Amino acid sequence: MGGILVIGSYNRDTVLRLARFPAPGETLTALGMAEFHGGKGSNQAVAAARAGGRVALIAAIGDDAPGKAAQVLWAAEGIAAQAVQITEAPTGAATILLDAAGENQIIIVAGANAALALPPGFTPPGDIAVALAQLETPQAATAALFRASTGARRILNVAPAAPITPELLAATDMLVLNETEAAILAQREAEAADLAIALAAETMRDVIVTAGAAGAFWARPDGVVIDATPPRVTVVDTTGAGDAFLGAFAASSAEGFTPEKTLRLAVTAGALACSQEGAVPSLPYRAAIMAPGGE
Ligand code: RIB
Repeated sequence: MGGILVIGSYNRDTVLRLARFPAPGETLTALGMAEFHGGKGSNQAVAAARAGGRVALIAAIGDDAPGKAAQVLWAAEGIAAQAVQITEAPTGAATILLDAAGENQIIIVAGANAALALPPGFTPPGDIAVALAQLETPQAATAALFRASTGARRILNVAPAAPITPELLAATDMLVLNETEAAILAQREAEAADLAIALAAETMRDVIVTAGAAGAFWARPDGVVIDATPPRVTVVDTTGAGDAFLGAFAASSAEGFTPEKTLRLAVTAGALACSQEGAVPSLPYRAAIMAPGGE
């Protein structure tokens, strides 16, 4: 099985549990507060490792306590983090508002993530099957990594939604985004499957649009669509569901599973991640993903 190389963010997440989201100008008292590891890049690396992948991570952290905690996490999860950079900027941070329905609103302070660059002379290991990135770190660094990763499936999670530079899109094989992000990118509201088809035709890339409990739709530029429906779960916190999807998708791709099976395992991982609070605590392990509903 080939390896998975993730480039992306690490954030220290502060989660505020609320009965409901505040209105503009309103002050609310939280029901509780908790801190977790977060950041889409690190979350996806952990998710891929837990799904059975052999994972290396390129990220940037500060010379501070959250940065040290991140290194402990990666070591515990068996993630190769030799290419992680220590910057003068503090480790990234996120404040996450979580309402009673498990929906979230997230504000990020980029910190060290904004300083991430590809280490000089860096070459990806030759046995990389998947290169995976998001948009919480500079697109130029991702484009450089993707250009050097020919032969791997280069997957860009378009999160948070933002315009993709032509140089990054040119080096990308596949886009993955949720329906909100897809609507922003397509500049119109539509069903998730329609957005996937439209974005695939526009970008001439494979595009997967995830739609929560409705599942995920994988469109090819020629219009062919594969879809998968997740198992039902009791939703506690949707934070990290997309990261669980991407991590399991990367691990299943690296394992050489069929597109149908890869998508099915990914939606299962995404659903399982909704059943517990916090991003990293909820990322499922291979056995749970492969249990009935997945396999
Ligand atoms: O996808 C969830 C993540 O988004 C959180 O962990 C937060 O840090 C933000 O990056």
